[in-house]
Amino acid sequence: MRKMDYTKLLMIPGPTMVPNTVLTSMANPIIGHRTADYGELLEDTTEKMKKVFMTKNDTYLITGSGTSVMDMAISNTVDKGDKVLTIVNGNFGDRFYKIAKIYAGDGDNLIKLENEWGDSAEPEKVKEILEAHPDIKVVTVVHNETSTGVKNPIEEIGNVVKDYDALYIVDTVSSLGGDYVAVDKFNIDICVTGSQKCIAAPPGMAALCVSEKAWKVINETETKSFYLDVKTYKKKYDDKKETPFTPSVTLTYAMNEALDIVLNEGLENRYKRHEKLAKATIAGFEAMGLELFAKERARSVTVTSVKYPEGIVDKEFRGIMTNKYGISLAGGQAHLGGKIFRMGHMGEAKEYHILGTLAAIEMAFNELGIDATGGVDAAKKVLNSEI
Ligand SMILES: Cc1ncc(COP(=O)(O)O)c(C=O)c1O
Repeated sequence: MRKMDYTKLLMIPGPTMVPNTVLTSMANPIIGHRTADYGELLEDTTEKMKKVFMTKNDTYLITGSGTSVMDMAISNTVDKGDKVLTIVNGNFGDRFYKIAKIYAGDGDNLIKLENEWGDSAEPEKVKEILEAHPDIKVVTVVHNETSTGVKNPIEEIGNVVKDYDALYIVDTVSSLGGDYVAVDKFNIDICVTGSQKCIAAPPGMAALCVSEKAWKVINETETKSFYLDVKTYKKKYDDKKETPFTPSVTLTYAMNEALDIVLNEGLENRYKRHEKLAKATIAGFEAMGLELFAKERARSVTVTSVKYPEGIVDKEFRGIMTNKYGISLAGGQAHLGGKIFRMGHMGEAKEYHILGTLAAIEMAFNELGIDATGGVDAAKKVLNSEI
């Protein structure tokens, strides 16, 4: 195999750059997962996870990617024919819809509240649907729609859903640890997240937390998955601080260290840093004369999506970025392929990453015949200011 270039700057919206102490924690020896040592590590990591989720609810670490816990949230609460409302304004909202279709079936019981991609979901519309269908069992939403760079108002939607019987399931895969999420305050029943975005651990571990209200539903729902049956995770954890199946011991070390870094920085400080980097990035693109994909009221603080100017070919632009400047950016997903590019500024992203990336983007666009300048200066102004 050809030698890899490990020096690339990851400015994609996950996986993100992993700090050295997290990487070296994975060189610790493998220990047995049915030992007191692993039990202690698992409990400590789970307690840290709860702090980041801001919840008192039962929380579990799952060896799997973010999609595994999306699947788990639905398969454990939804049976065939159950009424499910999925809020969709991007690829990951649509993923919840696709998962719900598998477990609930594809009849009138599956309700999709589709919003324009690039705009945020509207809590009033959620209320209207819940009023019309009080028997909805589950409502799903994605907090930070990574595919479009849009942030949904999960606190406001939680305020609506709490007055109905429905469970409120929220994907915070690309926001938790970077943007404000308070599971208990927001009335979230099942919150799911992944390791590889704002938490800045390697990919492959996920987490979810489960409210009392959700447990009641789970206990009355047919078991449809062996690996992702949340009841077995609860039993093993309550009995012995263990997981039902062999966990990634290595990733548990990594999560423990990564969560320490998150908590040592402090959640408030981390949210502020993400917000400032997002503002600087947005100011930079706007000064360059580029058009953002997400509407102003809906913009994410962890990923920014930018419309390509006429004549720019995605592959060429991102090819220059990666081959000449050593910076990875992401393209558009689904129908947005070739139309937008996405820059992540989450996890351990720092000011110099933003400035360097904006400078390289200006140079790449200039090389492709687009006059894009002034981005770095505009970003510098934001970074120098108090927000
Ligand atoms: C918002 C969101 N949800 C879910 C996922 C799926 O996570 P994974 O690719 O780890 O399965 C992603 C990944 O990009 C995401 O950004």
